[in-house]
Amino acid sequence: FWLIKFKQSPVKAGMMPNTSSQITNNKEKQRILNIPPVLKPDSTDANNVYYTLRAQTGMTQLVSGEKTKTYGYNGPFLGPTIRVERGQNIHIHTQNRLKQATSFHWHGAILDDSSDGGPHQTVAAGQNKLISFKVNQPAATLWYHPHAVGSTASQVYNGLAGFLLVDDQNSRQLKLPRNYGKDDFPIVVQDRSFDKNNQLDYKKIVSSNGTLGNTLLINGTQNPYIETTTKYVRLRLLNGSNAREYTFKLDDRSSFYQISTDGGFLKKPVQENKITLAPGERAEIVVDLGHYSQGSQVKLKSADSNILTMKVKNNHDGETKLPRQLTNLQTVTKSGQKVTQNIALSDMGHMVSINNRQFSMNRIDLKVKQNTTQVWKIRNKNNMMGEIHPFHIHGVQFRLLSINNNASPSNMHGWKDTIMTRPGNQYKILIKFTQTGVFMYHCHNLEHEEAGMMGQIRVVP
Ligand code: C2O
Ligand code: CU
Repeated sequence: FWLIKFKQSPVKAGMMPNTSSQITNNKEKQRILNIPPVLKPDSTDANNVYYTLRAQTGMTQLVSGEKTKTYGYNGPFLGPTIRVERGQNIHIHTQNRLKQATSFHWHGAILDDSSDGGPHQTVAAGQNKLISFKVNQPAATLWYHPHAVGSTASQVYNGLAGFLLVDDQNSRQLKLPRNYGKDDFPIVVQDRSFDKNNQLDYKKIVSSNGTLGNTLLINGTQNPYIETTTKYVRLRLLNGSNAREYTFKLDDRSSFYQISTDGGFLKKPVQENKITLAPGERAEIVVDLGHYSQGSQVKLKSADSNILTMKVKNNHDGETKLPRQLTNLQTVTKSGQKVTQNIALSDMGHMVSINNRQFSMNRIDLKVKQNTTQVWKIRNKNNMMGEIHPFHIHGVQFRLLSINNNASPSNMHGWKDTIMTRPGNQYKILIKFTQTGVFMYHCHNLEHEEAGMMGQIRVVP
């Protein structure tokens, strides 16, 4: 019994399709982690910052042997990290140099619909578009990716994704690691499959249950390592996979501290020894390397696969203590909150739906008045053998009130824009739509999204 249980432990009932195909890179040679460069502004004046972001094709050495045809932003694969400050006016000259339409969506950003980069704001092949917005939300690890109907999943799969990091007064004074690429690392985790010519043939592996690869890439690197010099190392984890979920752990089962959820800092660091992220979700964690000896290798893993090896060169530098409090986060309680909207997520074979409907560009599914507070009850209607659905809403950050009417765990108390829903469970969230326009809500399993698991809400002034 124990042997069987042990062997099966990476596969949990109720999420078979998302984790059942095993994935490992442990035998690959260790390579230094690729760190996406920080995007330099073209210019700045007063409170305006101007950038250029170009979607393009390229060739990338992802696995040994032949290079792979890929997509990227300002380079062949993935995109640069865009760092913005709360209060800045951001102007991004987006350019589409692909042979197909794309869009530039800022996942987790609180913006009006004209800058959101959803399916209604596509940029045709060869065209440019200026996107302007004011950053008006707390410090957070956000990300960007395309969102054109019918090509979101394949374009992300081919490499279109990048980090959008927001800083504010609070994040700049908190005693946390924040030397980008030294003790503060963006970590995007993606699974891919390569054909015998080392190409990513999305069409050949697409499945409506979600596309799973057999090769793990971390910032585009197989089996990566970093060399660390500080006591504390901050990892900004992003599940950028199309459909796979990951549960991250340290290989010696030590605990670490979660300091943020999708949309910003938790009130206090939460000590835990594992964290699960569904596609689209982010979490920042801080690992304390202080109690390891110099020369040791500390591994972050998901199931049996290496995610990141931290080679401890030195562990005395940097902060010596973590802040007790990270931000002023208002406490929300589940009591007295009346449900204003029911959302039913289901998949029956190849049919996925939200409230029994499939996405239509020409239909507005929901309407709300700007600045009203809503409570949504999101129910994953599948039975226990069904699939997870990471439910994401554009243009907002929300708070989780309860799971199956129970209080949610403290590491989920922060701002969220994507909530992983497990089969048979229901989640109540508290949302205030502060921006006007038409916004998407959808499953962030990108193949489910493409199969119609998406709706539109109009926020009216
Ligand atoms: Cu990350 Cu609607 O998307
Ligand atoms: Cu789904």
